[in-house]
Order: sequence, then structure tokens, then C-alpha cells
Amino acid sequence: MMSPFLCLWIATFFAVSQGCPEPCTCVEKKYGRQLAECAYRGLQAVPAGLPSNVTTLTLSANKITSLQQSSFLDVTQVQSLWLAHNEICAIEEGTFARLLHLKNIDLSHNQLVDFPWGDLYNLSALQLLKMNSNQLVKLPWEAFHTLKDLRSLWINDNKFTTIAQGTFDAMSSLSQLQIYNNPLNCTCRLLWLKTWAENTLISIPKRDSISCAAPESLRGIPLGKIPKLQCTPPSVQLTYHPNLDNTVVYDGLMLMLHCSVTGSPQPEIRWKIQTSSQGTEINGPNVERDGNDLSAGGSKQNAESFLLFKNGTLVIPNFSKQEEGTYTCLATNEVGTREVSVNMALANSENTVEDLFRNNLATSKLGAKHCNKEAQANSSKAGEKLVIIYRVPAGMGSSDGGTLLESHLWAYMLCLVIFLYC
Ligand SMILES: *[C@@H]1O[C@H](CO)[C@@H](O)[C@H](O)[C@H]1NC(C)=O
Ligand SMILES: *[C@@H]1O[C@H](CO)[C@@H](O)[C@H](O)[C@H]1NC(C)=O
Ligand SMILES: *[C@@H]1O[C@H](CO)[C@@H](O)[C@H](O)[C@H]1NC(C)=O
Ligand SMILES: *[C@@H]1O[C@H](CO)[C@@H](O)[C@H](O)[C@H]1NC(C)=O
Ligand SMILES: *[C@@H]1O[C@H](CO)[C@@H](O)[C@H](O)[C@H]1NC(C)=O
Ligand SMILES: *[C@@H]1O[C@H](CO)[C@@H](O)[C@H](O)[C@H]1NC(C)=O
Repeated sequence: MMSPFLCLWIATFFAVSQGCPEPCTCVEKKYGRQLAECAYRGLQAVPAGLPSNVTTLTLSANKITSLQQSSFLDVTQVQSLWLAHNEICAIEEGTFARLLHLKNIDLSHNQLVDFPWGDLYNLSALQLLKMNSNQLVKLPWEAFHTLKDLRSLWINDNKFTTIAQGTFDAMSSLSQLQIYNNPLNCTCRLLWLKTWAENTLISIPKRDSISCAAPESLRGIPLGKIPKLQCTPPSVQLTYHPNLDNTVVYDGLMLMLHCSVTGSPQPEIRWKIQTSSQGTEINGPNVERDGNDLSAGGSKQNAESFLLFKNGTLVIPNFSKQEEGTYTCLATNEVGTREVSVNMALANSENTVEDLFRNNLATSKLGAKHCNKEAQANSSKAGEKLVIIYRVPAGMGSSDGGTLLESHLWAYMLCLVIFLYC
């Protein structure tokens, strides 16, 4: 009786010598095409030992659950890869990256939640890409940017909620695009798709099924029929409030910077603070209206130095030399981002207001890098808007007028140099 290992060895030997793994059928076609037909075989993985010159590999309707880098190492000449109707839920990065001859790939009707999008970068010969009927969620906007020969792209019946502007721009040969049956979030960010779809020559079937799943008010409405949305980029304005009267701090001043924003949808506010010793970013309110500390993750030191209220007001409870620096308010909504900065310095006996003015002009040049192009183009022409508040309290000079607290405070000359760049 033969050992099972011997059987296996014999089977493998014959399979390899015939150049076709046992479950598949390999057929030589005209023009040097070599077909490996492995559909409907109940396969749980890509079979090993495929002939290296295979140009068409059919693996449809099997039970394959994952693909690895090694899955197609044998078949680098493959031009058509049919993998539809499997149970693929994971594809290792690099699985397709070396299949430089791929023209057609069908991954439809699987269970993909994610895809190694970077693998497409090398597949510049691709003409047909079918990924429809999966669970794909996120589509990087640059995913298709090298696919100059792609004619058909099927990404319908997935879980894409948004598609970034420019996603389809580089595919100059595209003639068919299927994107219906995705749960689109019809916000300002997606508005471009409506206009683009109306004006493109690319065939986009089933337009009534390219519809919104969110927001609630637009649920079920085809993207092509949604009413005009309110979409305006943020605008920001910075005001300050040196609250000298109410301050109870002996060795510091309480400063308030208020960032008032408009825009639709309502922009979110962030602050960036650059002092000489550190850069700090405050991404949301860290105190409640009544002053309770909200910051769970933020460092304690920052939470104490800078308090950000829900209404956009940044409070520096104890403004001293340490807190001197550039304070930038950034407002972001789906349409864009705007920022406005203020350079704050405390005047004291060591540097005059003229010194501060000079120093801050220098930092303002650095700050201008963050601005958008329009503002930059304009700032050189019109100059930066500059406001200097130089506060000299009335009590100064009369030595017996003030209390101890006042005279201590008056010793500071508060100098706010405000640059509005954007
Ligand atoms: C492909 O490989 C098989 C087996 O290795 C061989 O029989 C066949 O001639 C090859 N075909 C081409 C077109 O190279
Ligand atoms: C893309 O193809 C080149 C060869 O043209 C190869 O060196 C590179 O590794 C491939 N990229 C990836 C991600 O495998
Ligand atoms: C839709 O997008 C908006 C704005 O980005 C977001 O606040 C909201 O949570 C999204 N809704 C869904 C269902 O993804
Ligand atoms: C924002 O809220 C804080 C705390 O309630 C308050 O002190 C401040 O005056 C408010 N700012 C504006 C501009 O209303
Ligand atoms: C205010 O800041 C100064 C200088 O950093 C420090 O010496 C002082 O203790 C601070 N006061 C309070 C109340 O935090
Ligand atoms: C540029 O400055 C001019 C005034 O000098 C103003 O009317 C115009 O709106 C500005 N443009 C931008 C994009 O800020």
C-alpha cells in the first residue's frame, strides 16, 4: 500500500509536469494566450503551481477568503484576473502590485471592507476594474490617478459615503462609471459630483440610484435632484479683550481672544499657539461655560495656561512673558479653512513698543506661509492689516493714586500687536 505522502508527491509531480494544478484546466489559446480555468471548484485559496505564462486566470465562484502577496507570484504575465463571487475579505498589500500586465480585474461580489489602493499605482495597463458589490468604505482620492487606460470602473453597491473631488480626473480613457447604490452623505463636500456628473461625457448608469443616505432631510433623494445647499467657506475675525478691571491675579494679566466665525456649515474652531518655548494646539473647548476643566487628554500645563470656551473665546488667565507668541485661530468647514493670527507681546522696561513692532513684523512673514494663495497674493500689494493697541493706564505717573494691586499691574504695559493676514 502506498503512503499518502507518496500519493501526494505523485499527484503534485504530475500536476507540475503538466503545467497546470490539479483542480484547474489549462488551455492554450491563439496569439500566445494561456488560459487557466479554475472557476466553480470550491477552492479556498489560489492554487499553487499555475503555469508562469498564464494570461487569463479564472477563479470566479470559489470560496477564497483572502489574497496574499504570494498568491499571484507565479503568474506575473497575467492580463485578466477573474475573482468575482468569492468570499474575499482581506487582500494583503502588494498582492497586485507586481502584476504589471493586468488589463482586467474583477473582484465584484466579495466581502471587501478595505483594499490595498496603493497596488493600483503600478497597474497602468488596467482597462477594466470591477469592485462592485463589496463593503468598501473609504476611497482615497488618488487611488485611480495612474490608470490612464481604464475604460470601465465599477464601484457600485459598496458603502462609500463620499467621493473626493478629483477622484476620476486622471482617467482620461474612462467611458463607463458605475457608482450607484452607495450610501452617499450629501454634504457640501459631495456637491461637486452632482455638477461633474451633469457635465461629463462618461456614461454613468442608474443615476436615480446615485442617492443620498444622509443627512436625514435628503435621505433617498437622487444626488442629481438635491436642492441647493448652503455652502460658504469660513470667515474669521479676531477680537481681544484685555480684562484689566476684573483681574484678580497679582502677577499676570487675564487676556481674552475671541474668534468669531461665520460659514455654512458652521465651522469648527482650533487654536494654534506658538510661544518661544513651545507649540500648542487646542482642537476643541477645554473648559465648560462655568469654567470646569474639560480637558481629559490635554496636558495640565496647557489647560491651565490656555482656556478655550465653546463660544470660541480663548482665555489666557495669566498672561506673562512665557505666553508671548503667535496666536492663530483656524476655522474649518467642509468648504475650506481660514485662519487669523495675532502676535502678542508684553511690553516691559526691557523692550520698547518699537522693538516689539519690529520683531513681530519678522514673525509675521513666517506666519504668512500658512495663508492661502489669494491672501498671499494680496498681502504683498495691499500690505498686512496692522492694529497696535498701546495701553497706557491713566493712573500712571501719579504715585499715590493706585492700590498695591493696581500699581503692580500698571507696571506692565500691555502691547497687543495684531496682524490680520488672511
Ligand atoms: C506555456 O507554458 C506551458 C507549460 O509550461 C507550455 O506548454 C506552453 O507552450 C507555454 N505557452 C506559451 C505561449 O509560452
Ligand atoms: C511597482 O513596479 C515596480 C517595477 O516596475 C516595482 O519595483 C515596485 O516594487 C512595484 N511597486 C510595488 C508597490 O510593488
Ligand atoms: C455626513 O457628513 C457630515 C459632515 O462631514 C458629518 O458631520 C456627518 O456625521 C456625516 N454623516 C454620516 C451619516 O456619515
Ligand atoms: C464666551 O464665554 C466665556 C465664558 O462663559 C465668556 O467669559 C466670554 O465673554 C464669552 N465670549 C463672548 C464673545 O461672548
Ligand atoms: C503667573 O505667571 C507667572 C510667570 O510665569 C508665575 O510666576 C505665577 O506664579 C503665575 N501666577 C498664577 C496665579 O498662576
Ligand atoms: C485684495 O485687496 C483688495 C483691496 O486692496 C480687496 O478689494 C480685495 O477683495 C482683496 N482680495 C482678496 C482675495 O482678499
